[in-house]
Amino acid sequence: MLKVGFVGWRGMVGSVLMERMLADNDYEGLAPTFFSTSQAGQPGPDIGRDVPALADARDLDALAAMDVIVTCQGGDYTGEVYGPLRASGWDGYWIDAASKLRMADDTTIILDPVNRDVIDAELARGTKTFCGGNCTVSLMMLALGGLFEADLIEWMSAMTYQAASGAGAANMRELLLQMGSLHDAVADQLATPDSAILDIDRKITDTMNSADFPTAEFGHPLAGSALPWIDSLIDETGQSKEEWKAGAESNKIMGRTEAPIPMDGICVRIGSMRCHAQAFTIKLKKDLPIAEIEKLIADHNDWVKLVPNEKDASNERLTAAAVSGTLDIPVGRVRKLAMGGEYLTAYTVGDQLLWGAAEPLKRMLAILRK
Ligand code: HSE
Repeated sequence: MLKVGFVGWRGMVGSVLMERMLADNDYEGLAPTFFSTSQAGQPGPDIGRDVPALADARDLDALAAMDVIVTCQGGDYTGEVYGPLRASGWDGYWIDAASKLRMADDTTIILDPVNRDVIDAELARGTKTFCGGNCTVSLMMLALGGLFEADLIEWMSAMTYQAASGAGAANMRELLLQMGSLHDAVADQLATPDSAILDIDRKITDTMNSADFPTAEFGHPLAGSALPWIDSLIDETGQSKEEWKAGAESNKIMGRTEAPIPMDGICVRIGSMRCHAQAFTIKLKKDLPIAEIEKLIADHNDWVKLVPNEKDASNERLTAAAVSGTLDIPVGRVRKLAMGGEYLTAYTVGDQLLWGAAEPLKRMLAILRK
């Protein structure tokens, strides 16, 4: 039985992974050990059967006893433990949600509905380290998998609208605190139908710029606003790291770093809780009819759902409100741009904690179990 160690299972991504594994009976046939950085020795989580007490996530011998380690603990933990564990001779599979090892030469980025061929080839070659991709990248590639597979994309730009959850659990709480604070500031006026909207608006702006507006996590107001920068600056290009990942990770996922498709855009944080949306500008290699493009997109995988380019369908189905907590990847607003027949636009939204984080890890574990 495959001995699998889980690290970081209590955090947000780890909890989603646990939920998904329980829902699909994925612990069956595994011998799981749950590790903790702070509570070793305490009882393990309830997964419907007995599990050993929590092991110490920094105990290299305990980690080395595992065939597979799945970690959602974050990049600092990976940085601290992965090197010494490998140096000790451990040759097991390391499956990681963090970005720390993603671009290393001996690491494969996992998104099996898109790159199962790459994963299988790497497994056959003896690759033992597998990382989930960046959430916007994974969601984009699932949405447009049909166009990538048909090698129809010459270049593309993704403009993102990213949820608070991508920044962490504390940021989701802060977004709600900010929303509540804005509402509180004008609750009396809102309750008075004839109060002046410009007075309300002025109060909202004053409140979001006041010293006591809760901004400890984001550093700035997000509720009632948007933040046009995610992650650190890449000096040479002026991109944010989040923007750089689109091209770097996508091409690595497809195993085409030698002949990369140029991909770039602007990544923006918006007041969504856990769903990232993206608007694409795609330069196609040829001028295909829309019906053919839609079919390629819709037929690529079980989760992509083509939404007709109609107002009601788009506003009902292409939203965080419709998608949150599901594995659906709706793609819509598919149409040619005014620039010409080779210029396509499309829009997608997806749950960044599911396909954007936990699901590729869960599925990699299932691949190893077979
Ligand atoms: N970096 C992403 C974000 C989430 O900030 O939304 C993790 O991939």
